[in-house]
Amino acid sequence: MDKIPTAITEMLRIDLPIMAAPMFLVSYPDLVVAVSEAGGIGCFPSLNYRTLEALREGLREIRERTQKPIGVNLILHKEHNPNWAKQFEILLEFKVELIITSLGTPKSIVGEAKSVGAKVFCDVTTLKHARIVAKAGADALVAVAQGAGGHAGAISPFNLIPYLKEETNLPVVAAGGITNGRQMAAAFALGADAVYVGTRFIATHEAKASEEYKRLLIESQPEDIVYTPEISGIPANWLRVSYEKWKNAKSHSQAHSLEEEYKRWRDIYSAGHGVAQIKEILPAVEVIRRMVAEYEEAISTLPQPQKTAQYATKPASE
Ligand SMILES: Cc1cc2nc3c(=O)[nH]c(=O)nc-3n(C[C@H](O)[C@H](O)[C@H](O)COP(=O)(O)O)c2cc1C
Repeated sequence: MDKIPTAITEMLRIDLPIMAAPMFLVSYPDLVVAVSEAGGIGCFPSLNYRTLEALREGLREIRERTQKPIGVNLILHKEHNPNWAKQFEILLEFKVELIITSLGTPKSIVGEAKSVGAKVFCDVTTLKHARIVAKAGADALVAVAQGAGGHAGAISPFNLIPYLKEETNLPVVAAGGITNGRQMAAAFALGADAVYVGTRFIATHEAKASEEYKRLLIESQPEDIVYTPEISGIPANWLRVSYEKWKNAKSHSQAHSLEEEYKRWRDIYSAGHGVAQIKEILPAVEVIRRMVAEYEEAISTLPQPQKTAQYATKPASE
C-alpha cells in the first residue's frame, strides 16, 4: 500500500493516517495488531482490562505480535475509571506511543507522557473543551462529531473539523461516520490530518463482537441509530433494536458504576451513522486496503474547475 503522509503520520511514525478508534469491549489485540501491521495505528481502551495485571498481559501480547506503534485510550476520570493513575504507569512502562484521553484534561499526564516519547491526543466534541486540552499540552485533537459510534458530539463534521483546526492550530483527527476512502477524502478536504474509525472496524473478523452485533451493523440504516445520554450518562449513539430491548426490560439499573458500564456496553450495541456504508464483514487489513484505494480514486476524480472564456484572460483594467 502507498504511504499517505500527514502531520499525524509524521508524529506517530506510521504509514497511513488511519486510526482504529479504541472501542470498549470490542478492541483487543487481534484488531490492534492487524491495523498497526497494515500501516495505520490500532488503539484500545485501558478499561477493556478489568485488572492491572490483565492490562499488562494485553500489552505484552500486542508487543510480542507487532513492533509497530499502538495507542491506548485512558479515561482520566475517577468515577468512570478509578484506576486510571495506575493504568497510566503501565502505559509508560510499556512505552505506549500514543495515549488518547477522553473526558477531563490531560494536564496531569502530559509531562510524564512526553518524557517517555508518548504523544497525547484528546477527544473533544466542542471548541471549549478543545481550548482546555490545547492549553494543557495536547499534541492533537480527536474531533468527535455528530454520528460517531460511542460517546458522540452534536456538531456536524463539516463545521467541527475546520472550526477546531482554525481556532487551535493543532492537528485534527476526524471521528464520526468514516467508513471508506471517500469519507476520508472529505475529512482531509475539511482540514483533518487523520481519520478515527470505530464502527467500520466492528464489522471485521478481528473485532471482539458477537455475530449478531456484526450482522446488525450490516442490516442497519442511520435511522436505526438512537442518540441518547440515558444509557451511560453521556450522549452516545446506539443501535435502536438493542436500546429498545434495554428500555423494555422489566427492570434495569440506573446506577453508573463501572460494573454496570461493563454490563450495559456488552448488552446494548453502540454504533454510529457509518452503518449506512457497512455492507460486509471483512478482515481489518481489507478495510484499510479499500479505504486507501477509494481515497486515491476520490481525490483523482473530484470535479476540476475549468476556466471559462469569460475569465480566461485578465480583465483589461488589471
Ligand atoms: C462500541 C464502541 C465502543 C467505544 N468505546 C470507546 C472507549 O472505550 N473509549 C473511547 O475513547 N471511545 C470509544 N468509542 C468511540 C470511538 O473511539 C470513536 O470515537 C468512534 O467510534 C468514531 O466514530 P465511528 O464509530 O462513527 O467511526 C467507542 C465506540 C464504539 C462504537
